[in-house]
Order: sequence, then structure tokens, then C-alpha cells
Amino acid sequence: SGGGELAGLRVLVTSGPTHEPIDPVRYIANRSSGRQGHAIAAAAAAAGAEVTLVSGPVSLSDPPGVRTIRVETAREMLAAVEAALPADIAVFAAAVADWRTETEAGQKLKKDGGAPPPLQLALNPDILATIAQRTEGRPPLVVGFAAETENVVEHARQKLARKGCDLIVANDVSPATGVMGGERNTVHLVTAQTVETWPTMGKDEVARRLVARLGELAGKRP
Ligand code: C5P
Repeated sequence: SGGGELAGLRVLVTSGPTHEPIDPVRYIANRSSGRQGHAIAAAAAAAGAEVTLVSGPVSLSDPPGVRTIRVETAREMLAAVEAALPADIAVFAAAVADWRTETEAGQKLKKDGGAPPPLQLALNPDILATIAQRTEGRPPLVVGFAAETENVVEHARQKLARKGCDLIVANDVSPATGVMGGERNTVHLVTAQTVETWPTMGKDEVARRLVARLGELAGKRP
């Protein structure tokens, strides 16, 4: 192999968590570090792709050679993804918050006066499903992630069908694995027909191997 596996291809990657504001100082978030998504963007750029990374709030620096767009909320992420299309390959590695607060308080919520404020939640758009189910301008190769704590492969298969993507990279994020926020990852590549389980390795190595595989799937053999 070597560089150039994705030369001439446009790759779109989402990464990181989203933050959903409750009021001007508080938000709903999750433990995603963005490490895996950022590593994929960096590896795709190193493989010669033209890469756009849409990232939620992370403490990582922007990967070299990657056009990075920083967003905060799921709705901002979806808008940035749609603006970044067309793409040949789209990899949705972000841990998008499933819910946002129905309304964002204009002022900091006050604790004085008894009962805690009720948090009314609303469903966020599913960015992966929205793009994978587009009839026009769907990237030819759409990849999703599945963070599961049990029955990893079975749940990934269901997710593949429900979302309409071509490949799911499934990982076990039960707390004992240390995957969430950690340096290493154990993944299963799940398509409608196949399952491939990779040995535990660093997130950078997962990214390099995934990029090589995406090059093959996109019809550009290394
Ligand atoms: O449904 P679940 O969150 O488990 O699916 C995970 C996959 O879907 C990931 O690829 C994630 O980036 C994507 N996703 C998304 N928008 C959401 C929720 C999940 O793009 N609102």
C-alpha cells in the first residue's frame, strides 16, 4: 500500500460530541473525545483524499491538511455536513447527542425557589440516516459507527439497515473496555453480508486500516 490510496476522492468525516445548550452556561454532552474521527480524517488526508472534517467541541487540534469546520450542536453539524457535500465517501464518527433541550433558556436558569427546572427534550436529526437516505447527492460510500455495550454485531446489522448506510464500524464501549475517550479500539466491520473483527489496536492504526479498506470499497485499489 502506501500513500495515494484515496487520491482524487472527496472524503467527509464527522467527529467528536455535540453540545446541546440548556442555557447560556450549561449544556448536554457526552464522553466522546473525537480521537477516532480525527484520526480517520488525518489518515484520509495522508492517503491523498480531499478531506472535510466537521467536528463538535473537542480538545484536539485540527488535523494537518484537512479542512476542519467546528460546530457545537447536532443541527449545526447537519447543516455543515450538507454544505460540505458532494463527497465520494462519508464517515460519520461523531457521537451526536440524540436529544437537545426543546428550548434554550435565554438567561441562566436559577436554582432559587424550590423545584428543579424540568428539562423538556426534543429529538435531534440523525445526520447519518439523513445523508444515507438522500435520493440525490448521496455519497456512494456511507459509513456509520455503532457504539454498543452488548450484542455488538447484531445491533450493528440492525443499525446498518435502519440508517441505510453501507458499512458500520462497530465497537464495544462498555465501561470496562476504556474505549470511550481512550487511545485504543476494538472494532468489527459490518456490512449486510460480512463481519470482520479486527484485533485491538490504537485508534490511529484503526484509522489507517479503515482508510485502506475504504479505498478498496470505493473501487480504487491501493
Ligand atoms: O443511533 P446511533 O447513535 O447508535 O448511531 C450511531 C451512528 O449514527 C454514528 O455513525 C453516528 O455518527 C450517527 N449519528 C448521527 N446523528 C445522530 C445520531 C447518530 O449521525 N443524531
